[in-house]
Amino acid sequence: VAKVIACTNQKGGVGKTTTSINLAAAFAAHHKKVLLIDLDPQGNATMGSGLNKNELEISMNDILLGEQPLEKIIYHSSGGFDLAPTNADLTMAEVQLLQLHQREQRLKLALKPIQDRYDIVLIDCPPSLNMLTLNALSAANSVLIPLQCEYYALEGLAALLETVDQIRQNINPALQIEGLVRTMHDNRNRLTQDVSKQLRAHFGSSLCRTVIPRNVRLAEAPSHGMSAIEYDRTSAGATAYLLLADELIKRQAARTASAAQATEGV
Ligand SMILES: Nc1ncnc2c1ncn2[C@@H]1O[C@H](COP(=O)(O)OP(=O)(O)OP(=O)(O)O)[C@@H](O)[C@H]1O
Ligand SMILES: [Mg+2]
Repeated sequence: VAKVIACTNQKGGVGKTTTSINLAAAFAAHHKKVLLIDLDPQGNATMGSGLNKNELEISMNDILLGEQPLEKIIYHSSGGFDLAPTNADLTMAEVQLLQLHQREQRLKLALKPIQDRYDIVLIDCPPSLNMLTLNALSAANSVLIPLQCEYYALEGLAALLETVDQIRQNINPALQIEGLVRTMHDNRNRLTQDVSKQLRAHFGSSLCRTVIPRNVRLAEAPSHGMSAIEYDRTSAGATAYLLLADELIKRQAARTASAAQATEGV
């Protein structure tokens, strides 16, 4: 069964979509079978994976409203991962979901029939803690939180972690923190170093060691409908995301091994 990772932060422009696309491509480069779900009506992950959001006949909107099976919208991207695309129609689902039974479970239910086909499912969330994000957090095994090392980064984080706690208590008790990822990182900046220090003190091993540098290739690649890994594999941005994927895979292996050890000890 696939591990489902929600890439989320209600703060806008912190690198959620860049992280979702490039991690999807990086996991694929590590021979993982990956599905990227675009759960943001902006459709940035869709465009950045090489699919025109304005030409979609059916999309995540139809899936969440239960009108089509998820399998029907899957697109095989040139980056080696599968994509479940989205466009502005998804704002309709966000509103209509409020009236539906099991409204925060729609994504989880839609994923069930095809989850076995993948090693990893990544969900690119919108910049808000709305019903779409709640669907992502309900379907997920873990949350990956991209953040920029600036003063306000920590402020928004408290609200996000509180939401994760509430989801744990009410809907999804097994929800874990996959990691916090520092994006658009500039090591020469003093504030960046201070915030990094605070993050390490607060979150310890949940803070990913790999940092994503500010890199122009990461910003250029989406306009070509590609991940940076496909667009310029030797760039600093592509290299960082390949390392991040490696770090996450190794951490998962270590967790699985220690869980196995714990069971043996019983
Ligand atoms: N490491 C980076 N280096 C340079 N530019 C970056 C980097 N990461 C992201 N960007 C750029 O910053 C902008 C915001 O990034 P992105 O769209 O990934 O954020 P987001 O959190 O998904 O935004 P939103 O909240 O609107 O969904 C984009 O123009 C993107 O190309
Ligand atoms: Mg985005």
